[in-house]
Amino acid sequence: MEGPFRMLDGHEQVVYGSDPQTGMRCIIAIYSTALGPALGGTRFYPYTSENDALVDVLRLSRAMAYKAACAGLDLGGGKAVILGDPARDKSEALLRAYGRVVESLSGRYVTACDVGTSPGDLAVVARETRWATGADAVEGGSGDSGIMTAYGTYVGMRACAERVWGSPSLGNRHVAVQGLGKVGRRLAEKLHADGAKLTVADVDDTATAWCAERLGADVVSGDKIHAIDADVFSPNALGGVIDDGALAELQCRIVAGAANNQLAEARHGDALTVAGILYAPDYVVNAGGLIQVADELQPGGYRLERVRARTERIADRLHEVLTLAETERLSTAAAADRFAERRMAAVGRLRRFWLPPR
Ligand code: NAI
Repeated sequence: MEGPFRMLDGHEQVVYGSDPQTGMRCIIAIYSTALGPALGGTRFYPYTSENDALVDVLRLSRAMAYKAACAGLDLGGGKAVILGDPARDKSEALLRAYGRVVESLSGRYVTACDVGTSPGDLAVVARETRWATGADAVEGGSGDSGIMTAYGTYVGMRACAERVWGSPSLGNRHVAVQGLGKVGRRLAEKLHADGAKLTVADVDDTATAWCAERLGADVVSGDKIHAIDADVFSPNALGGVIDDGALAELQCRIVAGAANNQLAEARHGDALTVAGILYAPDYVVNAGGLIQVADELQPGGYRLERVRARTERIADRLHEVLTLAETERLSTAAAADRFAERRMAAVGRLRRFWLPPR
C-alpha cells in the first residue's frame, strides 16, 4: 500500500475536518468499531506539523481500542486532535465547529476530554453533537474522571499486592507516588487512609506541601522518586518513566500507576519481568475514567454505583492478564495487548461494523 493508506496500519477510518472561519483543523481517527462506538478524548495541541498530529492521533486511537477492550466495555477505540494552541486558539465557535465534525460521524466516534480540553469545553462541543461525553455534572456529564481513574488504579495496586505478598492490603506498605494532580493526589489520599507510608514527588511545590502536611508524606524530587526504597512505585505524571536509567535504579516490587505509556519501549516490559518487578499495565489499571465517561452512553445515563462496580472489576481483569502473562510467558504489558486483541477478535466478530441508531 502507498500514500496515506500506508499510515493507517489497521485503522478503520480517518476524518479530516476544517472550518476556515474559525481556523478549526481537526483529525479524528477511528481504530476500530468492532466492539462498539469508538470512544476517545479530544487533544488540543500545537503540533509542529500535520504529520505529527496524524501520527499522534493514530497511535492514541489504537491505544483507546486496547484499553476499552481490556476493560470489558462495548466500545471501540478512537481519538481526535485539534491542531492549535489551546491557550490562544480556543473559542466557542471553534469548539462548536469541531462538534459538527463529530456529529457528522453519527456516533461512530464519541468524544471526551484529553490534554488541552476541559469538561467545560466538552459542554460546548455537546451543543453541536450528541456524541460528546465528559462534560461537567451540571451540564449533564459525569464530571472529573480523575476520581474514578484514581480508584481504579488503587484497585489495581491492591490486586498486584495480593499477587506479590498474598494479601491485597497496602496498609503496611511504602508507596512512592510520582505526580499529585487529579489522579495522583486522590490515590495518595486513599493509600494514606489505608495506613500506607507515602513518599511523593511533583514539580508543583503546593501539591507536595499539601501531601506532606495532610498525609504525612515524605517529599523527594521528581527525578529521584522511582529510586526510593519503597514497595510500590506509582507513576501518575508522565509517560516513558520506565527506561533503561530508571530500570537500573528501581528498588520496588510493583510498578502500578495511572500515567499513560509508562514503558519507554516495549522491551522495558520484559526487563521488568526479568528484574522480578510486577508491572501493572497502565491501560488496564487507569481505565476507571474511561469506564466513567462510557457510562454516559448507557440507556438512562450515567450511574455512579454502576461505574464504581465496573471500576472494581479492574482487579479481576488484571488478575486475568497476569495469569495470561505467566501461562504464556509474556511480559505483563504484552499479555494485556494479547488479552485485548483476543476480545476484539472474538466478540468483535459478532458485531462487525457498529451502526449508529437511526
Ligand atoms: P494532572 O495534569 O492533573 O496531574 C499531573 C501531575 O503531574 C501534576 O500535578 C504535575 O505538576 C505533575 N508533574 C508533571 N511533571 C512532573 C514531573 N516531572 N515529576 C513529578 N510530577 C510531575 O493529570 P492527571 O489527570 O492527574 O493524570 C495523571 C496521569 O494519568 C497522566 O499521565 C494522564 O494521562 C493519566 N490518565 C489520567 C486520566 C484521568 O482520568 N485524569 C485517565 C487515564 C490516564
